[in-house]
Amino acid sequence: MSLATRRVPRTSMHGWGASGGLLFKVLPLNLPYPVRTGVPERINMKILVTGGAGYIGSHTVLELLNAGHEVVVMDNLSNSSETSLQRVAELAGRAPEFHNVDLLDLAGMKELFVSTQPDAVIHFAGLKAVGESAEKPLWYYQTNVAGTLNLIYAMEEANCRSIVFSSSATVYGEPESMPLVEKLNMDAQSCYGRTKEHIEDMLVDLAASDDRWNIALLRYFNPVGAHESGRIGEDPSGIPNNLVPFIAQVAVGRREHLNVFGNDYPTVDGTGVRDYIHVVDLADGHLKAVDYITEHGGLHTWNLGTGNGYSVLEVLHAFEKACGKELPYKIVARRPGDVAVSYADPSSALADLGWSASRDIDTMVRDHWNWQKNNPNGYEEQ
Ligand code: NAD
Ligand code: WQD
Repeated sequence: MSLATRRVPRTSMHGWGASGGLLFKVLPLNLPYPVRTGVPERINMKILVTGGAGYIGSHTVLELLNAGHEVVVMDNLSNSSETSLQRVAELAGRAPEFHNVDLLDLAGMKELFVSTQPDAVIHFAGLKAVGESAEKPLWYYQTNVAGTLNLIYAMEEANCRSIVFSSSATVYGEPESMPLVEKLNMDAQSCYGRTKEHIEDMLVDLAASDDRWNIALLRYFNPVGAHESGRIGEDPSGIPNNLVPFIAQVAVGRREHLNVFGNDYPTVDGTGVRDYIHVVDLADGHLKAVDYITEHGGLHTWNLGTGNGYSVLEVLHAFEKACGKELPYKIVARRPGDVAVSYADPSSALADLGWSASRDIDTMVRDHWNWQKNNPNGYEEQ
């Protein structure tokens, strides 16, 4: 049964007709059939967001609330703080429902689905540090792969079969060609990346076994930036692994200088090139994907990137412009496992979802800086 038809009896539908994932206002005419008028209104769904207190999760929860959805967040807060959700509530004017549950607690996950009865899931929860995954591979497989399996079991039992999954451009590994298109083989070069591959494979097999499943595999490129309010943003624990959070901590005085990992790549200035994407554009891609799968069904894989690449030094200089000061850096050796260049072909997401990223690199670093300068220690008390 499609989500829209499953959803209809639970909602007060007086005066409205449902079709696909959309609702159309019904005119009060004495006709034996509903008449659709004007711009269709989307059905507001109840969406369970795993990892919703985290960086990408909190921005997506805010956009979901702003779009009128009901949001349930489950997170064990192992890499986040509930403060992010309090701030999301301030910004949205209403709060998501929060449950502190661990993905590895199967009974707790099942209970959560029974008590909340979501229509769809956006699955962010998991571990994401490449270096750490090499040191603790079993913890990564347990959390990411076994955790996702638990989630799927709990969904299956609750008859909820729509899921948007956070995959990563890292599954492409050493690219055979550029830009990266979805049809390329997966060849992740890290344990972290391989957990994403395993989850993708699992979901592909699941969709092939049962066509009631609606699945989106979203391969993110390099999410950066923050909500324009500066109230929510990325708050890495310890030394940031990623470029922009590291630069932001240099700018705010928490780190002395940036180490630039290699300047002998075959790129514009010798430093690595990546496809940075504003986290709010990324969040918006999730809204489009969840709408699409609940309306069309099936399994779909989409890159979420801008299609543009920027070098490390270009990003650094853009950040310097945003914060109004020079930022010290040193060229050091290449980081093992890094590729020279990585950027998306985002045309499938545009064709299917009508989605494309609208915020440029200057907006990304401006918003990242706005968040960092207003919250020099992240969500910790100042
Ligand atoms: P994040 O660490 O900020 O968010 C992940 C959330 O999951 C955290 O709030 C954490 O507390 C929660 N979590 C971790 N283990 C859990 C468990 N066992 N049970 C319940 N909750 C748990 O990370 P993010 O940057 O927001 O990334 C979200 C997702 O996107 C991840 O799956 C990540 O692999 C993927 N992704 C991230 C990036 C990136 O560069 N940030 C790029 C590609 C893909
Ligand atoms: C970007 C560029 C570095 C830090 C990683 C994960 C990937 C995905 C996104 C989750 C590269 C250079 C970086 C620094 C530097 N995460 N750099 N100094 O490597 O593209 O992807 O995050 O899925 O899985 O591998 O992003 O931000 O680490 O690096 O010079 O201190 O910045 O060499 O060229 P990356 P990144």
